[in-house]
Amino acid sequence: MFFIIFASMEKREVVLSGIRPTGHLHLGNYFGAVKNFVKMQDTNDCYFFIADYHSLTTHPHPDNLQGNVRQVLIEYLAAGLDPEKATLYLQSDIPETAELYLFLNMNAYLGELERVTTFKEKARKQPNNVNAGLLTYPTLMAADIIIQKAAKVPVGKDQEQNLEMTRTYARRFNKMYNTDFFPVPKAFNFGEALVKIPGLDGSGKMGKSEGEGNAIFLNDDPKVIRKKIMRAVTDSGPTEKNQPKPEPIENLFTLLKVVSKPEVVAYFDEKYNDCSIRYGDLKKQLAEDVIAFTTPFAEKIKALDASDDYILKVMNMGAEKARANAQKTMREVREIIGFRKIY
Ligand code: TRP
Repeated sequence: MFFIIFASMEKREVVLSGIRPTGHLHLGNYFGAVKNFVKMQDTNDCYFFIADYHSLTTHPHPDNLQGNVRQVLIEYLAAGLDPEKATLYLQSDIPETAELYLFLNMNAYLGELERVTTFKEKARKQPNNVNAGLLTYPTLMAADIIIQKAAKVPVGKDQEQNLEMTRTYARRFNKMYNTDFFPVPKAFNFGEALVKIPGLDGSGKMGKSEGEGNAIFLNDDPKVIRKKIMRAVTDSGPTEKNQPKPEPIENLFTLLKVVSKPEVVAYFDEKYNDCSIRYGDLKKQLAEDVIAFTTPFAEKIKALDASDDYILKVMNMGAEKARANAQKTMREVREIIGFRKIY
């Protein structure tokens, strides 16, 4: 009895990740990240937020900021994030983050910020808008993470350097004020569990910036899905038995493996290996299996879109919890640095 009470009181590790509100969720996002977020909700104290402050670094005049953010939240909810299990919120609902960002910026150096690869890439992409927010993107990200005292941050490879900066800033703060106040968070990638989903254009991974038709979105219409898959890149077919599959064909099989039954994969594998495969048949089957997979998501997205009150409730619930936590951190940070108590 004692043990049971003990175990349930045990503090679970805080896992935190930010989501850039850059558009609709596709199969690559789902299998590469979201599916694992959904799993972690049961084992950790999870914080997931939509990084709307960060979006201003690349999109300074958003057309419909609230609409975009709402859509991203809806799609993540449809994909399985559960506001009863995880804390789901908008970055901009936690203005305390901006105060911590300011403090961290006082000890962030131009040289180290200029060396960050994502900064260099974005600066190259938008040479007329190399703003200070873009440069200090990693300090804002550090503030997001340490304000909730996160222990683990699930991020993709492209964010590892940013996370390394977070570690630097957490350590630097601790050292400067002679404290161990901020935990130094660890990057957390899923190893085996991470499935890299290829795009439909024959090479590389699925992404929205790779051009129309490369990605399949969870809310795509069945007609659109059929069209995208029928147009996927293939070749003229195998000419020798058991020959290795070239990349575009391997890609179609990778997709088949995540959405179809193992028998279906085995059937087309056999057909490929004895050179009797017809790519048209493979694609038709793949399209139907993708549609069967995405339809329940698309339906949930639609239902959530019609539930304004519920979405508002989710936003408020998450904001309240994340903000209370952030306020507590900031009261202590102000005290550590030596500012007057104001709240
Ligand atoms: N930089 C992340 C990305 O581009 C988004 C992000 C912002 C984030 N703040 C974060 C991720 C904090 C993890 C933790 O995808």
